[in-house]
Amino acid sequence: MKKARCLALLLVVALAAVLLAGCGGSGGEDDVRIIRIGHNQSTAHPTHIALAAFADYINEELGDKYRVEVYPSELLGSQTEMVQLTQTGAIDFVVASNSILETFSSNYTIFNLPYLFSSAEAYHAAMDDPNVTDAIFLTTEQAGFIAVTWLDAGTRNFYTVNTPINSPADLKGLKIRVQQSPTNVTMMELLGGTATPMGFGDVYTALQSKIIDGAENNELALTDNGHGDVCKYYSYDMHQMIPDIVLANYEFLEGLSEEERAIFDEGFKLINTVQRAEWETAVEAAKDKALNEQGVTFLYPDTAPFQEAVMPLHESVLSTYPQLQPIYDLIQEYNAMYPSGE
Ligand code: GCU
Repeated sequence: MKKARCLALLLVVALAAVLLAGCGGSGGEDDVRIIRIGHNQSTAHPTHIALAAFADYINEELGDKYRVEVYPSELLGSQTEMVQLTQTGAIDFVVASNSILETFSSNYTIFNLPYLFSSAEAYHAAMDDPNVTDAIFLTTEQAGFIAVTWLDAGTRNFYTVNTPINSPADLKGLKIRVQQSPTNVTMMELLGGTATPMGFGDVYTALQSKIIDGAENNELALTDNGHGDVCKYYSYDMHQMIPDIVLANYEFLEGLSEEERAIFDEGFKLINTVQRAEWETAVEAAKDKALNEQGVTFLYPDTAPFQEAVMPLHESVLSTYPQLQPIYDLIQEYNAMYPSGE
């Protein structure tokens, strides 16, 4: 799998070199700039559907100059590798989980905090507010990218091969895959399990070969990624709502004319609205399939003990990154407006 990915990556880079060499010709196909977007989901996932809508839109509006190509399923590498490719401009866009972005820019740490949002409504309202996101999304030019929109990735919950998780005590002694982020590793430690960070594409094999006992993610991981074929308990402890972020190579965006940029900005909004419209139905369908076809048992534990165990993380992150305090406070206003269970 890894070799195949590397090969795919080499092919893409070679292809890019050929295309770049072909740029600057006069007229014809050579003048069409290919825009590459990489992500790690399947073609049936809401994220892919939204990116395909973006591709159609740009190809229709600006097809004489640009052609958008969407590469799903880690074809261009793992998420971290794709972020690096976006930084250097080898590809133009990537969808990356907010989790892994904290190692590229520490401000992203805030959205990785467990139990940051009190409800899905608070989460959506906060993420839609530029006063919450701009200081994070638009301050990474130095790193070579900026964020152009966010995508819903639901609520993250624990699921295991054969251990029902009803309280943090049940996690003790279990190796649980987490995303490659210091916050996630600390969260897992506070909950008493053993954090095993790894890329998304490696999780299925790790579960199947019992290198890990479980993982944590939204419901689509059970079905779309087949984790529910191996894991039979999914426990709604609701520990995180971590958005996916669409990142763009900064130079590419800066190189667009004003008119082109306006069209791209419309396209970014389209990605967000299409993905969000697809998300809820996709989650319902995933739950149904996991329950009825994969034989997954859904558990609904009291979330309070989980929450209590990880709350020290809020304080430690805010004292390490005091610049995040005003954003955190603003999020609390949304939490008060849309409390849990309403
Ligand atoms: C979700 C999320 C992905 C992420 C994955 C993971 O599926 O949408 O962006 O890569 O979780 O756990 O790594």
